[in-house]
Amino acid sequence: MTITAVANQKGGVGKTATAVNVGGALAAGGGRVLLVDLDPQGHLTSALRLPAAQGATLAAALTGSWTGRPGQLVVTHSETAAGGRLDVVPTALEMFTVGRELDRMRAREQRLARLLAPLAPDYDRVLVDCPPSLDILTDNALTAANDLIVPVQAEDSSLHALRLLLGQVAAVDADLRDTPLRLLGVVVSLLRRPPSTLARTVLEHLQHQPDLPLLATVPLGVVVAEAWRSGVTVAEYAPGSEHAEIYRQLAVTITKDAG
Ligand SMILES: Nc1ncnc2c1ncn2[C@@H]1O[C@H](COP(=O)(O)OP(=O)(O)OP(=O)(O)O)[C@@H](O)[C@H]1O
Ligand SMILES: [Mg+2]
Repeated sequence: MTITAVANQKGGVGKTATAVNVGGALAAGGGRVLLVDLDPQGHLTSALRLPAAQGATLAAALTGSWTGRPGQLVVTHSETAAGGRLDVVPTALEMFTVGRELDRMRAREQRLARLLAPLAPDYDRVLVDCPPSLDILTDNALTAANDLIVPVQAEDSSLHALRLLLGQVAAVDADLRDTPLRLLGVVVSLLRRPPSTLARTVLEHLQHQPDLPLLATVPLGVVVAEAWRSGVTVAEYAPGSEHAEIYRQLAVTITKDAG
């Protein structure tokens, strides 16, 4: 099982769309995939039309107020013709206050890693959709993960946001991890066509970052929004579309990178 954090503290840059649609592509290819909605806003949970959890919730499991089997947090979204599966750990309303509770607890950054460990035999890939903040929830994802995908938009402010995020990754590497988190690379999302001059200069910059490859560029596409509104992934909604192919390629790239 490889755990991939999908993170950027900047909001609205395509984190959730990347997690959902890379997950959909992996499942369509036969992978057993688990999506974890770590964002209290619950966009991933609602994009897949799942109800927010109650009782046995990720929030309660993270704070230790619920201590059942982690498998009980999982709901199945879909199974694919290729034998793959897309499962989800949905968010819950109490996720908004988990941060404050965790701040008072020991081993607070390791709680997600401990929850996911028993699920290892059941999944090929776990994608953790992070909230738009560098908080204790994101630290939990950066601690639990094997590798990291960073969705960005082609804007100047993205480069500054990227530096802040990489600083946080370095801090987590130094303080909390035995081995450094693998930086798979950035995914430029929501790219207008044709790209503006400004967007082109940012893309140029992103193409020449030595430690952070540009994994994919995803143009703005109505099919992404339509699939989201229908509660399914792009791979299910429009398997022959350009966007399904982009996410499929991205899924292949990160699988190859994982060795
Ligand atoms: N390639 C795309 N084409 C069209 N719409 C897209 C595309 N990618 C994402 N979107 C839409 O843009 C919005 C923002 O994307 P998304 O929610 O994935 O960003 P995010 O980084 O997860 O945001 P947040 O920080 O709020 O969690 C969503 O409504 C999503 O459906
Ligand atoms: Mg999101």
